[in-house]
Amino acid sequence: MRKKVDFLVIGSGIAGLSYALKVAEHGKVCVVTKSTAAETNTRYAQGGIAAVLYTPDTYEKHIKDTIEAGAGLCDEKIVRIAITESTERVQELIDWGTHFDKDKSGRYDLAREGGHSEYRVLHFKDKTGSEIQRALLEKAIQHPNIEILEHHFAIELITQHHLGIKVTKDTPDIECYGAYILNPSGKVDTVLSKTTLIATGGAGNVYSTTTNPGVATGDGVSMVYRAKGRVENMEFIQFHPTSLYNPDEKPSFLITEALRGFGAILKTAGGNEFMEKYDKRKSLAPRDIVARAIDNEMKISGDDFVCLDCRHLNKNELINHFPNIYAKCLSIGIDITKDMIPVVPAAHYICGGIKTDEYGNTSIKNLYAVGECSSTGLHGANRLASNSLLEAIVFSHRASVEAVKKISSADYCEKVPEWNSEGTVLNEEMVLITQTLKELQFIMTNYIGIVRSNLRLKRALDRLEIIYRETEDLYIKSILTPRLCELRNLINCAYIIIKSAMKRKESRGLHYSLDFPE
Ligand code: FAD
Ligand code: SIN
Repeated sequence: MRKKVDFLVIGSGIAGLSYALKVAEHGKVCVVTKSTAAETNTRYAQGGIAAVLYTPDTYEKHIKDTIEAGAGLCDEKIVRIAITESTERVQELIDWGTHFDKDKSGRYDLAREGGHSEYRVLHFKDKTGSEIQRALLEKAIQHPNIEILEHHFAIELITQHHLGIKVTKDTPDIECYGAYILNPSGKVDTVLSKTTLIATGGAGNVYSTTTNPGVATGDGVSMVYRAKGRVENMEFIQFHPTSLYNPDEKPSFLITEALRGFGAILKTAGGNEFMEKYDKRKSLAPRDIVARAIDNEMKISGDDFVCLDCRHLNKNELINHFPNIYAKCLSIGIDITKDMIPVVPAAHYICGGIKTDEYGNTSIKNLYAVGECSSTGLHGANRLASNSLLEAIVFSHRASVEAVKKISSADYCEKVPEWNSEGTVLNEEMVLITQTLKELQFIMTNYIGIVRSNLRLKRALDRLEIIYRETEDLYIKSILTPRLCELRNLINCAYIIIKSAMKRKESRGLHYSLDFPE
């Protein structure tokens, strides 16, 4: 099928939907999403969204905290934009129907998380993301100009390459004409668009233990990389310090940092506090420091987990603020009011991604990127907690303004051919995909985790090259399936992560190498 739309949006999380709602006032929008529209990283967000609302907080304090967490690599101009526009954008989320908790006086109840010097995180209990996803999706479904295509998988961006023109990283003005989309019947549709937004989220599934749902397979980053667009800072993978230790559960269930903001304390399995050895902010130090401290404590003790102790906290308030965590832990026999919670770090967020400017422009013409797949410069070498939902709404707004401006002069590229796949082999051997995925996750978890070294990076690259070749071979021969495309994208992302890590000859933020002690 061939289709034409003014605005093509790939992804239905906070970035894709908030952009779609805005551009829909100016033309026809098609949102493609590879699972159900609600299955996104956004839906799993717990802690909330950071924004400056009341004194004594100020924009300057939030800016300082963000820059401090980013370990010298934040782009200050971008930080200032994101934070000074936070209040207005959060108000928009509220106007679209999102509920955030209020205190008895009617003011928004703000939480505190690691690295924040003030209470500034708006939240809805401990399930803020599902509330935001609900509100945005309800609005988008009702909008007459928005079509949402579920179970539609974007395989490749369409550029001059598909017109038979050679494209390299140095080609000036690479242009995006839309995307090839694998539809639920297994056919590939050609969607031509005047502008395209990539809002495909994270890539947590590069690792075996992640808080990210199965959809987070780095598809957008890989598509842009293959289209010769600019991708940066991919070595900065954020491991969340506290995911529930429950070995066979995927994704790993998050124990929000807001629980530490509420007073929970990290302890060894033997019940000893340890964070004071690593940072004066103890359990509320920035994530890179806490995750490394936990990793070190687990290595020292040989234990499979450390613990989060909430037993000293007011029982009713604890259950009232964190009903989701209370219920989840209880379902596996842990009463958080009486027992310590076993926790381990898990891959959580990718700070780098598709390089954009302050309007979401990528290095490819007519292609925008927003949300976790993008690299705006806000997070630098380490993201401050609850700044990613904020980044998504600020830059989706800015990208929407830019895209709307361009739409009147943009046109479709009629010369684009239909998808030409030579694959004929019905891939019945799912085992090839599942085993290769496990191998990939094993390599990345063991060699490119919280602590790295030159030797580990080299080992990872050597092993990755084998599964890269095998998978490319399988890809060329096979009839396409989403699982195969995801595997290929994850391998691409892993390759970029390793190569970026190899280039960084220092330890900084989330990239910590034994060969470059701090
Ligand atoms: P997503 O919400 O992940 O949406 C991506 C969309 O793209 C999905 O619809 C997916 O199906 C679709 N997609 C992907 N590839 C394709 C393809 N090839 N074709 C078609 N569709 C595709 N951040 C905070 O600021 N505060 C928090 O409290 C917080 N808590 C978190 C808790 C958890 C457990 C997790 C996992 C993350 C948390 N984060 C938090 C991070 C934050 O949720 C994400 O960074 C943010 O939601 C990403 O939004 P997004 O719109 O960029 O991507
Ligand atoms: C959390 O709730 O701890 C996650 C917050 C985030 O990732 O920003």
